[in-house]
Amino acid sequence: MLYQFPPHFYWGSAASATQTEGAAAQFGKGDNIWDHWYQQEPNRFYQGVSPQQTSTFYQHFRDDIGLMKAINHNSFRTSISWSRLIPDGTGEVNQQAVAFYNQMIDELIAQGIEPFLCLFHFDMPLAMQNIGGFENRKVVAAYAYYAQTCFTLFGDRVKHWFTFNEPVVTVEGGYLYNFHYPNVVDFRRAATVAYHTILAHAEAVKRYRKLALGGKIGIILNLTPSYPRSDNEADRLASFHCDLLFNRSFLDPAVKGAYPRELIELLDHYHQLPEIELGDCRLIEQGKVDMLGINYYQPRRVQAKLHAVNHTNPFMPEWLFDEYRMPGCKMNPHRGWEIYEKGVYDILINLRDNYDNLPCYISENGMGVEGEEKFLHNGQIQDDYRIDFIREHLKWVHRAIEEGSTCFGYHMWTFIDNWSWCNAYKNRYGFYRLDLATQQRSLKKSGEWFAQTAKHNGFADLATGEQSWI
Ligand code: BG6
Repeated sequence: MLYQFPPHFYWGSAASATQTEGAAAQFGKGDNIWDHWYQQEPNRFYQGVSPQQTSTFYQHFRDDIGLMKAINHNSFRTSISWSRLIPDGTGEVNQQAVAFYNQMIDELIAQGIEPFLCLFHFDMPLAMQNIGGFENRKVVAAYAYYAQTCFTLFGDRVKHWFTFNEPVVTVEGGYLYNFHYPNVVDFRRAATVAYHTILAHAEAVKRYRKLALGGKIGIILNLTPSYPRSDNEADRLASFHCDLLFNRSFLDPAVKGAYPRELIELLDHYHQLPEIELGDCRLIEQGKVDMLGINYYQPRRVQAKLHAVNHTNPFMPEWLFDEYRMPGCKMNPHRGWEIYEKGVYDILINLRDNYDNLPCYISENGMGVEGEEKFLHNGQIQDDYRIDFIREHLKWVHRAIEEGSTCFGYHMWTFIDNWSWCNAYKNRYGFYRLDLATQQRSLKKSGEWFAQTAKHNGFADLATGEQSWI
């Protein structure tokens, strides 16, 4: 069977500024929440590895872009570090950062790699967090200024922009489940942050359009599908609520320009609505995106509550559903996550049918492996498991495209093994292995497979179970 992708399909990988650049306290960069939190609580970071110890992209970006080219990337997504570009969050622009990002963009383009740039990948400048982060509307204005600065500086060459990466994760991590700074557990504050994030997103979209730079703007969402345990009405309602809170809370305003009525009613019922100001609805409507990036790793399975909720506890999403571990599901045992390849197809078909088939691409898909060094043989990581993972997901992406999805690309998380927030270097995802001691990069077997697939714009599955390229 041939899996040939449409012409001009984007093949590449994704990374982010704070996770790769390093030079966290150099070249004029201000602190962000990760620098600060590490100083406060280094124990919260896997093996105490700090955001200073990343894969040195700031120094090695030219060589690294050469490595992208070597595996036939025609696109690459990273982010701009707000606290590098504008160290205080608002005000003075750091000219060293401007020079760095200009060189990076120019090098990508020179190598035939289309830059996809995201403006915010979990890394709030500390100066902005100190005035409340996205709980404070002043930070919405500061973000809009930062976005406009980026468009003005780099928009002549960058034609794919994204306002946020997985904004719901910032909300979950920082304001519900205590795995990001500022470690708050409070649903109403979480709802406020989510709401102001959408306002910030919409302000950026509005400003981008006004500048008429001829590119496209979107947002990257982790659209983890919610699958109910059964067809039973109670299970289906649990899954509906989960979808509402974790997917549609960003998807609907970003694509349809309005929040789902059911979400507003739900939050109102539990007294969790954020404060809304005159003009907000109009602004959100103006924030409708041109395209969507989809991050997909694993499905979410849910069931109706097994026990009564204790209403004296603070309101949490888990008042509405329980997680469900499906017996016998396929697992990535190295990360403890379920592998459900069809999930990516379900997302694309949902977008086709319910979201006007908006142009979209897979902005992250990936397989994290703890202890991956055990697969190092003859100097190479033999990650056949990752090749299977990518190939099986690509088959479903291919099928969705055949059935009318407008998916225009596929990016893997990630390019070189990188530092990942509290998990630091625990789970490896890269096409290239990073030797932490020497900073040497070496291509994994999956990188070779991906290079061939990108080169041939697809792959073939032979009847024997072997593969070849077209
Ligand atoms: C993605 C994020 O969801 O997951 C990345 O966008 C992150 O920033 C990646 O690094 C992997 O996470 P983890 O926890 O498995 O290392």
